[in-house]
Amino acid sequence: MDIKIIVLASGRGSNFEAIAKAIAAKKIPGAKIAALISNNPAAQAIEIANKFRVPTTVVNSAKYKTQGVFDRVTYEKELLVEIEKAKPDLICLAGYRLVLGRELIDHYPKQIMNIHPSLLPRFRGLHAQRQAIEAGEKSTGCTVHWVNHELDAGEIIEQATIPIEPADTEESLSRRLLPVEHETYVRAIQKVVARLISSGSR
Ligand code: GRF
Repeated sequence: MDIKIIVLASGRGSNFEAIAKAIAAKKIPGAKIAALISNNPAAQAIEIANKFRVPTTVVNSAKYKTQGVFDRVTYEKELLVEIEKAKPDLICLAGYRLVLGRELIDHYPKQIMNIHPSLLPRFRGLHAQRQAIEAGEKSTGCTVHWVNHELDAGEIIEQATIPIEPADTEESLSRRLLPVEHETYVRAIQKVVARLISSGSR
């Protein structure tokens, strides 16, 4: 039986596309994408999913906001119902812009992966590329890690490094880093899927 992967994405979806492409090209043996779930009905990731014939579900997080207050608990209850329908072995966050709540994380211990555009543990949180430039770093990179209760702080699965050029801006650095993120995420999933298969847990 294939390892079932669900991807959660909120926007552009280029990391999702890289994963979908790798699976379509059989570069992640034993894995299949069971669904793309987005909290944003306008996410480009949804079009990408259609192109790869990946089933999509939207749980619109904007509908759980009243007067600027986000009801994360109710939103995540709905999200969990949708995730559970696909019975995933792995959940890959790929540009998913919401912080996951405790209950959801506890539901899938060591089954939720994320990609972050810095060499963790350095530069957690938003604008990681800008943080690296402002800190005067000569290099930065990306990290695929397990999701735990602390933001961008779970166990590291895979990393890759790129140089920061003196003329780099947040934009140019992000652009150069993106293809490296794609390779790194695919490599991380290959590693995790191979481990799951060889340990016989799937
Ligand atoms: C990537 O830079 C990823 O590291 C970060 O959000 C961005 C998502 O890009 N978490 P995309 O939607 O995968 O194109």
